[in-house]
Amino acid sequence: MLRRLVLLALLGLTLLGWPAPFAMAQDKIKVGVILPMTGPLNSLGKWVSRGINLFLLENGRHFGGKEIEIVLGDDKGQPELTRTIAQEMVDKHQVSFLAGFGLTPTALAAAPIATQSRVPAIVMIAATSALMDASPFFVRSSFTLPQVAEPMADWALKNNIKHVVTIVPDMAVGIDAEKSFSAKFKAGGGSIESIRVSLHEPDFTPGLQRALEMKADGLFVFEPAGTSAHFMKQFVHSGLAKVRLKLIGPGDMVDDDHIESIGDVVVGAITTSHYAMSHPSVANQNFIAAFKKAHPHDRPNFMVVSGYDGMRLIAEALRTTNGKGDGATWLAAMKGMAFESPRGPIQIDPATRDIIQNVYVRRTERKDGALHNVEFDVYPMVKDPGKGK
Ligand code: PHB
Repeated sequence: MLRRLVLLALLGLTLLGWPAPFAMAQDKIKVGVILPMTGPLNSLGKWVSRGINLFLLENGRHFGGKEIEIVLGDDKGQPELTRTIAQEMVDKHQVSFLAGFGLTPTALAAAPIATQSRVPAIVMIAATSALMDASPFFVRSSFTLPQVAEPMADWALKNNIKHVVTIVPDMAVGIDAEKSFSAKFKAGGGSIESIRVSLHEPDFTPGLQRALEMKADGLFVFEPAGTSAHFMKQFVHSGLAKVRLKLIGPGDMVDDDHIESIGDVVVGAITTSHYAMSHPSVANQNFIAAFKKAHPHDRPNFMVVSGYDGMRLIAEALRTTNGKGDGATWLAAMKGMAFESPRGPIQIDPATRDIIQNVYVRRTERKDGALHNVEFDVYPMVKDPGKGK
């Protein structure tokens, strides 16, 4: 009797067009998301995972006949842990995609696993140029430091900034920012003095002092997202904010998430970035409305957009292949993929798997009572200039 009931129930579900339970398990596609959800870098995990969830909330989980299931792993920003979690995701959970990666070293740790298991891995924050060489299965939805630093150098030269002190943390991504800015700036006739500060105990005073002594007209600063408060305090203390010098750099230091806590000292800073909350487009307005519904008290930043677009890359890969194939098929589907993101048009470079996108020049302003990075110029569809160097 019971067996007949179960059979009838299964038949009923199938006739109604519902997938039978045994087919359901098979039609799941797992995406292993590895991010720092705890520890000093937990804000990176918070923002990217919010972007991933927002995409699924708005678009559902079914693409190409498959249902996406997220398996979340917290690597605390520690590469050894990333490696262990990535291996477990592949072996135990049999994920079809990997995603996340808050830092270049954690992404590097997962690279051999993505390559050996032939699982596409979407890099959602890590931003060194060379990272894409670490695995042919990497695809980037974030940005690269050279991609935003070179336009910054170009803009500075065209706007009469000729002597610059650069200050970056002594880590791969900081060095990428410094080198790409300096090379472009020097090639255009500018002079540079470069200072690197410790990542864990940064002291900005020597760099600020040099900028005063050499009467620099620009101070180029890269500060990883969420960490610029300490620099800003020393900047104000140095008195440099009061001289003619321009504060310039990648947008990370004035990220939408924490710009208000920095205060009006950043008004007038010129930064280059691929995303500002104030980007004027319908796609961005819709994105912000959806984000605000889920998180009324927060502002979406470039990391939320990266998680959101990275999830869309996976969804589109499944949709355009009818969910059929394997890692290599889905990787091929992502190469050359293009769509309108909240940041503007984006494309995955089919040759490098890196992202091609607009880089905006923004001025920090107080607008309608809040601090915003207001776009006033654009370098359209910039490829990562670091490739092949
Ligand atoms: C990186 O390690 O690649 C990284 C870290 C923080 C950022 C951007 C990139 O804000």
